[in-house]
Amino acid sequence: MAPILQLKVFFVALQVLHGVHVQASVLVKSQALSNTIPITRHTAAGSRPRNVVQLDRSRINDIKSRVGITSASLSAAERLAVNNAPLNATNDGLFYSAIVHIGASNTPFNFIVDTGSGNTWIGGNKTYVPSSTSIKTADMFNISYGMGFAAGDQYLDQVTLGTFTISNQSIGVASTFSGVTWGCDGILGLGPTTLTKNTLTTSGYSTIPTVPDNLHSQGKIAVQSFGVYFQPATSASVTDGELCFGEVDTSKITGPMTYAALSTTVPAAYYWSFSQSIQYGSTSMLANGTGIVDTGSSLIYVATDAFNVYKTATGAQTDPTTGFLEITAAQYATLQDISFVVNGTTFTLTPNAQLWPRSLNALIKGVASSYYLVFQDTGAPSGSGFDFIMGYAFLERFYSYYDTTNSRMGFATTSFSNATTN
Ligand SMILES: *[C@@H]1O[C@H](CO)[C@@H](O)[C@H](O)[C@H]1NC(C)=O
Ligand SMILES: *[C@@H]1O[C@H](CO)[C@@H](O)[C@H](O)[C@H]1NC(C)=O
Ligand SMILES: *[C@@H]1O[C@H](CO)[C@@H](O)[C@H](O)[C@H]1NC(C)=O
Ligand SMILES: *[C@@H]1O[C@H](CO)[C@@H](O)[C@H](O)[C@H]1NC(C)=O
Ligand SMILES: *[C@@H]1O[C@H](CO)[C@@H](O)[C@H](O)[C@H]1NC(C)=O
Ligand SMILES: *[C@@H]1O[C@H](CO)[C@@H](O)[C@H](O)[C@H]1NC(C)=O
Ligand SMILES: *[C@@H]1O[C@H](CO)[C@@H](O)[C@H](O)[C@H]1NC(C)=O
Repeated sequence: MAPILQLKVFFVALQVLHGVHVQASVLVKSQALSNTIPITRHTAAGSRPRNVVQLDRSRINDIKSRVGITSASLSAAERLAVNNAPLNATNDGLFYSAIVHIGASNTPFNFIVDTGSGNTWIGGNKTYVPSSTSIKTADMFNISYGMGFAAGDQYLDQVTLGTFTISNQSIGVASTFSGVTWGCDGILGLGPTTLTKNTLTTSGYSTIPTVPDNLHSQGKIAVQSFGVYFQPATSASVTDGELCFGEVDTSKITGPMTYAALSTTVPAAYYWSFSQSIQYGSTSMLANGTGIVDTGSSLIYVATDAFNVYKTATGAQTDPTTGFLEITAAQYATLQDISFVVNGTTFTLTPNAQLWPRSLNALIKGVASSYYLVFQDTGAPSGSGFDFIMGYAFLERFYSYYDTTNSRMGFATTSFSNATTN
């Protein structure tokens, strides 16, 4: 169970204070929660320039293409076709990893933290050595990516995340592996369980328990949930994030949590999804749309009509080299706040927070002195069930909380929500 009881009491008090501005200092606590693990942010190997927009976009195309994944009425052939739809699940331009220990030997693996997929699997640089806690199943896993695929044996093994140890966690061990260049040891899949459907070649349509499923079913956390905290990136590789299992880490937030129900609109509903409206200054971009949160996307994507409102209002042009929206210094000086209204609460993305980190302009093949914006077009009109994707550019400004038990997402401000980092 989550160990620090006083924090829960604190949190209840915070909710009673609903609507009242809570000072950050009220939330300072003496020690870190033990149910947390650090997240490190990386740029791709060697910091060679990446087309971040293209990488994000191919991932998004794949997410959209997974329509129908949960439909029990699909024929076996149709399910196979869905399974084999290319899934560019990982943006290897920028990624966020956490160390997880596996097996009796407690071997550390550096996993990409991915809320957009459910399978946890090993592939890449580190070899999995079965130990006394390993059980090899009759299953094979096979996950296709636009850039390749990973396939191999499916094991059950002991996994340790911070102070929590779970047994019999499903872990794919990739023996065939192509097209992946990210320089990590695999993926920690924190997406909804439905995303694991069709990934095992021998068990057919069944799902497999995800890491949060096992943390909950094995009594490690009372609420099946996790919180994600990042700080804005100003350098290429830094450990500045945190995953917290089973509760909100209230030491990381500076105001009350706002919750929104998980969406039931597909395809967003297969992912961590919610509804919100979006405004630029006083101009509406999106009335009330449904979309997702994705730790595997770098930028913020909005429906084409919302994107066009933003592009026109800011006067931005698409820079052909980087694929980013670009504004001039003069346009930056008049840039307005963006408001995300989630279940009645407004989360403000300041002009500064709308900029791609200027210290990382070289990473996107950009010009050092230029101003690039973090908004992109989903490529679909609003109302298609995929109106936005809140990637890292949003998650580095607001705490996010993924709650299966209560079928909801949560958000809160952090001390970086309004920080000037550019
Ligand atoms: C996946 O990514 C690769 C490389 O960027 C790209 O060529 C491919 O078209 C992408 N697949 C989809 C479905 O977007
Ligand atoms: C996994 O799927 C890919 C594409 O769907 C296929 O090319 C590959 O042969 C499969 N690998 C295994 C081991 O089943
Ligand atoms: C793990 O799975 C094995 C094989 O199914 C079973 O014998 C064992 O009891 C399981 N352990 C736990 C802790 O559930
Ligand atoms: C993975 O292995 C390759 C080849 O040995 C090496 O060049 C690369 O730096 C390694 N990446 C990481 C993250 O260890
Ligand atoms: C949305 O906000 C209302 C009012 O604060 C609250 O009662 C409701 O529970 C919230 N919705 C969710 C899903 O938490
Ligand atoms: C937004 O749309 C969702 C899904 O249709 C609905 O549940 C929610 O009540 C709407 N919110 C507002 C503020 O209209
Ligand atoms: C951030 O600044 C906006 C104005 O740009 C303000 O409305 C909002 O309350 C501030 N948020 C925090 C957490 O201080």
